[in-house]
Parts: sequence; C-alpha cells; structure tokens
Amino acid sequence: MAARAAQMNPSVIREILKVTERPEVISLAGGLPSPETFPVEAFEQACARVLQTDGRAALQYAASEGYGPLREAVAAMLPWDADPAQVLITTGSQQGLDLIAKILIDAGSPVLVETPTYLGALQAFTPMQPQVAGLRCDDEGAVPDDLAAQAAAARFAYLLPNFQNPTGRTMGEERRRAVVEVAVRTGLPLVEDNPYGDLWFDAPPPAPLSARHPEGCIYLGSFSKVLAPGLRLGFLVAPKAVYPKLLQAKQAADLHTPGFNQRVVVEVLRDGFLDRHVPTIRALYRSRRDAMLAALEREMAGLGVEFGRPSGGMFLWLRLPPGIDAGALLAQAVARGVAFVPGAPFYPAAGDARTLRLSFVTASVEQIERAVAALARSLQDALQQRHG
Ligand SMILES: Cc1ncc(COP(=O)(O)O)c(C=O)c1O
Repeated sequence: MAARAAQMNPSVIREILKVTERPEVISLAGGLPSPETFPVEAFEQACARVLQTDGRAALQYAASEGYGPLREAVAAMLPWDADPAQVLITTGSQQGLDLIAKILIDAGSPVLVETPTYLGALQAFTPMQPQVAGLRCDDEGAVPDDLAAQAAAARFAYLLPNFQNPTGRTMGEERRRAVVEVAVRTGLPLVEDNPYGDLWFDAPPPAPLSARHPEGCIYLGSFSKVLAPGLRLGFLVAPKAVYPKLLQAKQAADLHTPGFNQRVVVEVLRDGFLDRHVPTIRALYRSRRDAMLAALEREMAGLGVEFGRPSGGMFLWLRLPPGIDAGALLAQAVARGVAFVPGAPFYPAAGDARTLRLSFVTASVEQIERAVAALARSLQDALQQRHG
C-alpha cells in the first residue's frame, strides 16, 4: 500500500448511518436532499428528448471540459461575468475537491479550513497529506484576522460562505468583504464551495467571494441540491493559471463526466426551469426548518442547549450542555428512535464533543416533532446520569 492509503479513512458519517438505518429510527443524520424535490417527470421527458435528438453523441466519449451548452448555462447562472472557458464540469462537486487536492497540495502543505468544516473535503484533502489547520470561526465563519495570520504559508483556504455544512452558518456582506481583502492583500488562494447558496429561505445571501475576486478563487458548484444528487453533476470555475492542470487531473480521474447526464440537465434547465423549481424546494425546506426550530424551542427549554438558526440550506448545529458528549448521547437517542451526527468529526483536529448536526430536510414535520422530543428525552436521561 502507498503511504497515502494509510491516510484514508472511512467517512465517519457513512459509518454512523449504517448503525442508524433501522426503519423505526427517524434519521436527522444524513446529508441527503429530500427525494420529494427530485423533478422525476422533467427528467423523464428530457431523457427521451436527448435520446431522440442527440442519442449517439450523448452515448459517446466526450470532452473532459464538459458539454459546451452546459458550461455556457453554468457561466450564465453565476452572478459574475464568468467565462464558459473557465468552467469545468465535474462528477459532483466532490470530484472538484479531489482535483483541487491533487493539483494544489504537496505532502506537508498547510491548508486552511473552517472549524468545523465539510467532512467530505477533509476526506478529499487528506490523502495528499496536507497539514490541515483550522481557522478560528464565529457565527459567520472564518475570522479575517486569523485568516490573515495563517495566510502566509498556506496553499489555500477552503471556505463555505452559504448555509455551511455542517453548521448552517452564513457569512454576511461585511465578512465577505473582509475575507476577500485578506485574500487580495496576502495572495492567499480561496476555494469557495457553494452547493447550498440557492436554498435560501428569507433573502438571497450576499454575492460569492469568487464574484469579488475571480482571479484568486476556485469556485465549486453543484446540481445535487437543486436537481438531484444521483446525477453526479457539479462544476468548478477556475482562474486561467490553474484551469489546465485541473483539466489534466480530471482527464486522469475519469476522462469526462457522463455526457448523457450533462445533455439531460441542459434539456431540463431550458425555459427557466430552476426559477420555477428551486422556490418549491425553498418552501419545503423552510417549513421544515421552522418546524425544527419550534420543536427545539419547546422541547429543549431549560436543558442548556444552544442551537443555530440557519437562514437556508439543510442543516442545523446544536451544542449540548457541559459534560454531555454527543457521541455517547447518540446511542441513547437511537434507542429512543432518533439519529443525528455527532459534530466532532467535522473538525480538522480535536473536535467539540458537545456539538451535533441535525438535517431538517428529509423528515416530515410530524417526524421532526417526534424526533426532537425523543432527542430531548435522551438528553434529559443523560443529564440525570451526569448528576447521578
Ligand atoms: C459542502 C459540500 N460540498 C460538496 C458536497 C458534494 O456534493 P456533490 O458531489 O453531490 O456535488 C457536499 C455534499 O453534501 C457538501 O455538503
């Protein structure tokens, strides 16, 4: 085995999901979009149209950069003047993270991440053997002073400004300006991951970091949360200086992202489909977020729990009272019929064992209410044991 194989770890979440996938357990653990939102009929029609009109090209090998009309559609969707030539279609944005790791990280390279951060990014970076350093974070993500202090040696900072996975937090306008100012001043490259930006509930989030500083950012986007994750369709937008190397890494990884899927999505996107479809996802997820917040207010009253109030996305972050370990609580919660993901694995180094992540999008309102009540009861048990 190569040394890097020893660095690879099973996804802690996938391991937890195996334990919690019992039919009687309501899972708030997974990171899955709600399948009710998948536009199956639109895909049915689009698949037929692609096969009828362009079937042979759709089933042939294709360009590594991606299908031209999809690259153009992606560039047109972005809120800055992005050139389709800088768009690389990837097999999910997860592949974008893997390609970035391959071209930017040497063994020992310092890489900056938020604390906590997206676990899948840590999984993508780790085989390249970086020194992952956590940035000091608050309710808006990375604190600019700390970013500046750690910028000099770092290869890049990996940032999630919108409805972050796992915390649900969002960077405000001022914070974005300050972060970009640090990047411009220090030359620190930014990797901006934005799979959740369209899933806002109250108002759209401020413009992406990449819109303010495109030459210093690699931007990652995805169709997983606005159409369907099974497509495995994502994209990155990269400056000219790094695009050719990302493309070569892409060629080595899988030659190209399936041309059939790309054509089908171009068909689905016609006539402003997302403008009609995404608001339905927002409405569904907003109602479930509201139900979860109301249930938490009610059930957790007086238990010393802190929780975020995400204004979009899929996740809510919760901090348990002192002395309660989320990993230990999980077993009690599963016994009472609810599963969540402990927060510690999302940290680059020793994690906060009192934190946990709840998804509010896949369970119904009624299930959310039962699940939060069960979680509160398991916490009450744990608090009694702590005092006992
Ligand atoms: C922050 C973040 N980045 C990237 C991904 C990967 O998404 P995909 O590969 O489906 O585009 C996810 C998936 O949950 C995510 O939460």
